[in-house]
Amino acid sequence: MNTTVAGKDNRTGPDSSRRALLVRWMQGVVAAVFLYPLFRFIGHRIPPKPRLVEVPAPLPLSGVHTGHDFLLFSTQEGPTAVSRICTHLGCRVNYQQDKQYIECPCHQSRFTPDGTRIAGPAEKNLPQYEVTFKENGEGQVIAYVVHL
Ligand code: FES
Repeated sequence: MNTTVAGKDNRTGPDSSRRALLVRWMQGVVAAVFLYPLFRFIGHRIPPKPRLVEVPAPLPLSGVHTGHDFLLFSTQEGPTAVSRICTHLGCRVNYQQDKQYIECPCHQSRFTPDGTRIAGPAEKNLPQYEVTFKENGEGQVIAYVVHL
């Protein structure tokens, strides 16, 4: 039985501690509801837009264009582009025209022109990039566009 003494709060005991716990829990839920979107916004990263690099068509007779960040090949199925950054430790790979494969000068990882790993310490294939065409008004391809 609760009795009231003048000027004193008599809300002590198990009911008041449960009430205080419930109030704290509700405060936590309200804080989470309002702070979550804020933290989400602060931590939000906008994905970078792809960088587009144009390579004038046609490709050289070798069928390969060596860009700073990519190798562009002309194949029977169409143009393909792969990254020049080695998946081992990040050295810049080169295409060996006479051997028909891509080789890393640092630790000699080798890849096919489509980026598939053949040998070496690199464990992953080279990333491929999308290639689209830029045409003139008559439908002729005037450039390849590599989406980095
Ligand atoms: S960085 Fe290319 S093989 Fe090591």
